Amino acid sequence: MNYQNKTVVITGAAKGIGAACAKLFFDAGANVALLDVADDTSLINDKRWLNIHCDVSSETQVKDAFEQVIQHFHSVDYLVNNAGIQRYGSVTETSVDEWDLVMNVNLKSLFLCAKYAIPSMLENKKGVVINIASVQSFVSQEKVAAYTTAKSAILGLTRSIAVDYAPHVRCVAVCPGTIDTPMLRDAIALSPDPDAVMQECIDMHLTKRIGTAEEVAELVMFLCDDKASFITGQAIRIDGGLGITIQGSKK
Ligand SMILES: NC(=O)c1ccc[n+]([C@@H]2O[C@H](COP(=O)([O-])OP(=O)(O)OC[C@H]3O[C@@H](n4cnc5c(N)ncnc54)[C@H](O)[C@@H]3O)[C@@H](O)[C@H]2O)c1
Repeated sequence: MNYQNKTVVITGAAKGIGAACAKLFFDAGANVALLDVADDTSLINDKRWLNIHCDVSSETQVKDAFEQVIQHFHSVDYLVNNAGIQRYGSVTETSVDEWDLVMNVNLKSLFLCAKYAIPSMLENKKGVVINIASVQSFVSQEKVAAYTTAKSAILGLTRSIAVDYAPHVRCVAVCPGTIDTPMLRDAIALSPDPDAVMQECIDMHLTKRIGTAEEVAELVMFLCDDKASFITGQAIRIDGGLGITIQGSKK
């Protein structure tokens, strides 16, 4: 796929899935704007690579970041709303501050970035918004109340954007299963037996492996391409079959 002269904005692009998306789009010729609170470690120094320090849950920072993108690259063709955080707890265990943090980073930020990206897409009469959700938009595990709520709501936001800005702007949610990223490694490290948790993760998937960030990036890139122009408003799972079996039915 050729993305020359196209601009993609990717949130949470310093690590994990966002970093893999940034590299893939860059290699396909796109201008890439990376919005993250962490510094990009890829050391790519090129006029098509723009690092912007931005907390995507802050409206002023997002507005400022999109102004910089337009100044630098003149338009926004694709937005990959990828930044996210994982926090654990049931409803009674989750503090109000933690709830708000997860909602702001995992949900409000997608609204904010779409709000400031879509006007440029409408000017061009063309654009795609990809929202990174999760299998936890459909199924849940213990003690992820805030995370699973935010990830479920992303599907509603995806439909709203798809309906409101059709036919010019498409919006698709991508729902990964377990993907090998710093988020996963950090979560597993909290356990007293990380190797056993990793094996459990592997065993949960019909493919008997977890996914890679690059596989998710390949799907994102396909969904942005005109080859996917009949896909909008959908939630596409990339999850090694996680969640399609009744628990315990396939060892
Ligand atoms: N890894 C998985 O197994 C998995 C599974 C399903 C969904 N997801 C989702 O995929 C997305 C990417 O996850 P990942 O595993 O690559 O995570 P990661 O932790 O490896 O990377 C996330 C990136 O987002 C950035 N970020 C966090 N808060 C931010 C903020 N307020 N503003 C700007 N940037 C911020 C981080 O600095 C980091 O660079 C997330 O939305 C996550 O919920 C991940």
